[in-house]
Amino acid sequence: MTRATATAPGKIILFGEHAVVYGRAAIAVPVTNVQATATIENAPAGTGCRLSAPDIGARIRLSDAPIDPLAVAVRLAIEAAGIEAEPDWYVTVRSTIPIAGGMGSGAAVSAALARAVLSHIGHCVAAPSTAWPRVSSARWRDQPIPDPETVNRIVFAVEELHHATPSGIDNTVIVYEQPVWFARGRPPQVFAIACPFQLIIADTGIAYSTRQVVADVRRAWREKTIRYEAIFDSIGAVAEAARRAIGAGHVTALGPLMQENQRLLRQLDVSAEALERLIAIAEKAGASGAKLSGGGRGGNLIALVRPERVDAVREALLASGAVRVIVTEVGASNYELSNS
Ligand code: MEV
Repeated sequence: MTRATATAPGKIILFGEHAVVYGRAAIAVPVTNVQATATIENAPAGTGCRLSAPDIGARIRLSDAPIDPLAVAVRLAIEAAGIEAEPDWYVTVRSTIPIAGGMGSGAAVSAALARAVLSHIGHCVAAPSTAWPRVSSARWRDQPIPDPETVNRIVFAVEELHHATPSGIDNTVIVYEQPVWFARGRPPQVFAIACPFQLIIADTGIAYSTRQVVADVRRAWREKTIRYEAIFDSIGAVAEAARRAIGAGHVTALGPLMQENQRLLRQLDVSAEALERLIAIAEKAGASGAKLSGGGRGGNLIALVRPERVDAVREALLASGAVRVIVTEVGASNYELSNS
């Protein structure tokens, strides 16, 4: 093959961020209208492997970048395919996922790179027929695919570089492209969404480092372990209640659960003024509940919105400084989204 292209979606965490790092369960869904895309083309002999990421102005030679996350994703995939010598390739990666915004841009870029490498080398497996139907049926129907388990392992390893103690939820939801119920150390589960519901994802425009926020929470947890463990337990209980509500189609229960989750995230000190302001604006304009999504301190919030309030909430958020607003229907057959 002379050229291979692969993509991976963004994600949002519905319930349970941060507590999931400490073993509590959380819920995440893919967001497919924002994507990372990686392309590999053969280069003349002796070129080596050259990576470019035009969105961030990065140009890297694989052999000169031992710990760069893009290079690590490519190198781990080459190793997984059993190739020892550095190949002569031009590798390009682009992404429409906001960087440092809680939507999994790092994990999606790694997943797209790993998939492109494995596809280019032809290191693929028959699509699994059970457990992860989207992987097996939607995009790669009837064709061999880069092994999702291998891609998941690679992305997790790169996540460990990004922030030292990832729970594994971001790589899992992005690689399997399904709503997941995730608890560290247990096999992730796809779960049923009995009744689709609409969410608005709004970007504060404030970039934050997940690594930094996760490290801050860890420091505070070490100092006030009993208090933090109690908050994590409460967040875990909210995620459990949300799972039951989503499974039973009780969408009206989700707004108050989001508010409760946000109240607990505030206690962990991972919210921010801009998040609180936009959450209040979304709720005033008719959202049934809203919370930050991902690491916090900036990035994106999500708001649960009845269909008839979508326009009002979107306009209120944009008028109040949200830099991007995405409307998504969770549980719709293909996660179709619109952007403004
Ligand atoms: C980041 O998307 C979610 C966090 O819970 C970190 C993690 O789960 O690794 C903050």
